[in-house]
Amino acid sequence: MAIVPAAGRGERLGFGVPKALVPVRGTALLTHAVRGLLDAGCVRHVVVAAPPTEVESTAALLRDEGLAADVVAGGADRTESVRLALRHAIKVVPDARVVLVHDAARCFTPAHVIRAVVAAVAAGAPAVIPVLPMADTVKQVDFGGTVLATPDRAALRVVQTPQGFDLATLTRAYAEAGDSATDDAGLVEKIGVPVATVPGHAYAMKITTPFDLAIAEFVLSAGVAP
Ligand code: CTP
Ligand code: MG
Repeated sequence: MAIVPAAGRGERLGFGVPKALVPVRGTALLTHAVRGLLDAGCVRHVVVAAPPTEVESTAALLRDEGLAADVVAGGADRTESVRLALRHAIKVVPDARVVLVHDAARCFTPAHVIRAVVAAVAAGAPAVIPVLPMADTVKQVDFGGTVLATPDRAALRVVQTPQGFDLATLTRAYAEAGDSATDDAGLVEKIGVPVATVPGHAYAMKITTPFDLAIAEFVLSAGVAP
């Protein structure tokens, strides 16, 4: 089962429509994302969290593309959107063992990354995230922008989605960890459950800015991920 948070406004992309509905080569980001999950061959059920005013149009968009997915209204932030979609998912597929949470904005994640996350959870890891090494040096700064420290880059990773969980672990994290996090594994960490990593891929980049959208056009034209 997969949950796709797609209820953001896409303000940094600046298209004036929710980012999930912005087209790459004529097809919405969300459509690419849902198709990628279903085509990976290890996801049977998809629940999308859409902007509350776009639930009907999003459901119609996916239906017209022949993609089977439930669409629910998302919330005020990503954590709330996932919480609402998870609540629906548990009702419709209560016996699911593995649940993925995958940003609509990472719509070109290669199938092999999706399959590696599912396989690692199926093999017994309660939480699994795809990661990449840091290319840049990273600084920790204070509120004034003055550098406080240089963390060892070798120990840092960039985090992508889909993130995979056993359903009981993610449900407990959302019930107990309370507040917001920028990713789902962050909530799992708060309840003291170990989070494993698998190799991510450059194509699983998050589309945030117009520059990223240009890269996404390239990724789509390049075809199957190397
Ligand atoms: N998201 C969501 N519900 C929200 C906010 C974000 O489901 N209330 C989703 C987005 O649709 C996206 C993912 O979470 O798939 C990552 O969020 P982000 O890249 O920040 O997307 P937006 O919030 O749409 O973009 P921006 O912050 O530029 O407005
Ligand atoms: Mg956002």
